[in-house]
Amino acid sequence: MSKLSILVARAIFPETIARLAQCFEVTANQSDDLWDRATLIEKLRGKAGVFTTGGERIDAELLAACPDLRICANMAVGYNNFDLAAMTAAGVLGTNTPDVLTETTADFGFALLLATARRLTESEHFLRAGQWNKWAFDMFAGAEVNGSTLGILGMGRIGQGIARRGAHGFGMNVIYHNRSRLDAATEAACKARYVDKATLLREADHLVLVLPYSPASHHAIGAAELAQMKPTATLVNVARGGIVDDAALAQALRERRIAAAGLDVFEGEPRVHPDLLTVPNVVLTPHIASATVRTRRAMADLAADNLINFLTQGQPKTPLNPEALAGARR
Ligand code: DGY
Repeated sequence: MSKLSILVARAIFPETIARLAQCFEVTANQSDDLWDRATLIEKLRGKAGVFTTGGERIDAELLAACPDLRICANMAVGYNNFDLAAMTAAGVLGTNTPDVLTETTADFGFALLLATARRLTESEHFLRAGQWNKWAFDMFAGAEVNGSTLGILGMGRIGQGIARRGAHGFGMNVIYHNRSRLDAATEAACKARYVDKATLLREADHLVLVLPYSPASHHAIGAAELAQMKPTATLVNVARGGIVDDAALAQALRERRIAAAGLDVFEGEPRVHPDLLTVPNVVLTPHIASATVRTRRAMADLAADNLINFLTQGQPKTPLNPEALAGARR
């Protein structure tokens, strides 16, 4: 029997390509070209599956142009690049990579919180620029982390991981807001208290954003929300660009209406709002919260498992829209 064809849309571990090639005819983009939409659609014609990494928009128009496509396997837990309703309507399965990146991403969220509160990059730039010629009592004095109030907006698996680190490792008082309240056992494990969004904004010394991006969470933190935060507060975003209004944040940072921010994700990334590049009180990283070698391998393995298990046995490991299976394309 001839092998099905699949597309791997971005460069990935050679071992992952080799594994996929045991089961499929693989077209791979190991030169990591950034294809425009027309090229992506062209490359997808005749493919039964695609390995995506989060930047490829899968919507009704693309699905109509690629009638052989049966599965889109994202190597990311976030899947805001998928129009899941359109995929379900077209009988196309979407999968993501939950769990394997939870602890790694929570580590990074906490690292960004610490770096932001304790002014790590700002002080390093000062030192590298040769400006350190004497010690001073208030030099780069930042915000206390231990014993302070940690606010978490979006209390899924990663949010809970950050809460546990704050509560158990740093003795923080943890408050959270989420679409739905967690059960009592999970709240107890995280030592976290549910509050409304206004209370979260008002009381957090450090506010970490870990909610998924959707039209409903677009600009969940804008000028109005920033105005409700403490002037001494820090804000950390390890979720998705677009959840924060970056222009409003840059202005709030410049005017010291909040103390500092740590951002791993940006509106329209990899572009970064130019105003964020000129304010000193922000730590900026290029969407690397899940980037350890072990975790990125685990994510690639899981995305490959989903392609292989679905296309060879009809049984994906981590389906996002299992209801699509009822009307699945063959
Ligand atoms: C995710 O998994 O969603 C991370 O943001 C990496 O893209």
